[in-house]
Amino acid sequence: MTRIFSGIKPTGHLTLGNYLGALRQWVAAEQQPDEALFCVVDLHALTVEHDPARVRRLSRQVATLFLASGLDPRKCTLFMQSHVDEHTRLSYVLECTATDGEMRRMIQYKEKSARAQASGEGVRLSLLTYPVLMAADILAYDTEEVPVGEDQRQHVELARDLAVRFNQRYGHTFTVPKVTLPKVAARVMDLQEPTSKMGKSGGAGPGVVFMLDEPGVIRKKVMRAVTDSGDGGVVYDREARPGVANLLDVLAACTGGDPAALAEQYSGYGALKRDVADAVVELLRPVQERHAELAADPAAVEKVLREGAGRARALARPVVDRAYRAIGLLEP
Ligand code: TYM
Repeated sequence: MTRIFSGIKPTGHLTLGNYLGALRQWVAAEQQPDEALFCVVDLHALTVEHDPARVRRLSRQVATLFLASGLDPRKCTLFMQSHVDEHTRLSYVLECTATDGEMRRMIQYKEKSARAQASGEGVRLSLLTYPVLMAADILAYDTEEVPVGEDQRQHVELARDLAVRFNQRYGHTFTVPKVTLPKVAARVMDLQEPTSKMGKSGGAGPGVVFMLDEPGVIRKKVMRAVTDSGDGGVVYDREARPGVANLLDVLAACTGGDPAALAEQYSGYGALKRDVADAVVELLRPVQERHAELAADPAAVEKVLREGAGRARALARPVVDRAYRAIGLLEP
């Protein structure tokens, strides 16, 4: 049995990137005889300027989309991070393992702290310590594999480093996790700015396809996607032709094909975009339908989360207790 853990933070409406990079991989992993935990990492949503009512609303929506995407609470554990105290309990111990320099080298910290500073907001201390809390999320469950998109690779590597360092210093305590990335679409790019990641936190960008966008909106966004200048036709070249390569990646992820092979089937961008739009609409249609049903019964979603938190707590408690003993804290 492989223990899997992953999470999504409720900082915006989920995007096609979240679906292809994370959720869809999770549903595939859940079909194996694995033990899998998937978490709405709500504490992580508090590390930048936030509106409490919006975080509450988005937390419910992300949990509902977990189920709508096909995650089955009979096969995996679905829960809210803030409902399981072990995450913050372990995070402190890992803060005593990590260094300040290590935190400041994290790419996402550099980007997000620069943005917060530029907009005149202070940089929250929790933004700096964010990767430690993320390491705690992972290590608290003896996680072996962490299925994420490419942008989270550095954070998962930090979790590995902290686990190894702790084990060397205080004796074997943590399982050392490894990252798993999807074969295609590990980094879905913004349709208007194909050199930037398609992100949920950037507002209602015309280059971002949201999982709950209406079919007409999805088509419009895809048809208006920026393609690259040059007369080389449709070729798959991520460096030189990032816009077209992104569309081919998305099509390959939706249809199960290979992006370079797909490129050969097209002579123009129009036909490619139409096929991408159709594929994305069809991929998301069942998820959207199921979301509409589930959103009408929030009590059922809350019940899943309550039961999930109970299971998660029972798994994490002994691991975190073990870390407390190892680092030198007395048993209560
Ligand atoms: P978050 O909430 O930004 O994203 C959730 C998941 O979606 C993936 N993803 C993408 N994949 C491909 N293309 C994209 N454009 C794209 N955008 C997002 C992310 O890689 C991620 O897998 N720090 C994490 C949340 C987290 C976590 C954890 C993850 C907290 N604790 C423990 C795994 C394990 C984050 O901000 O993801």
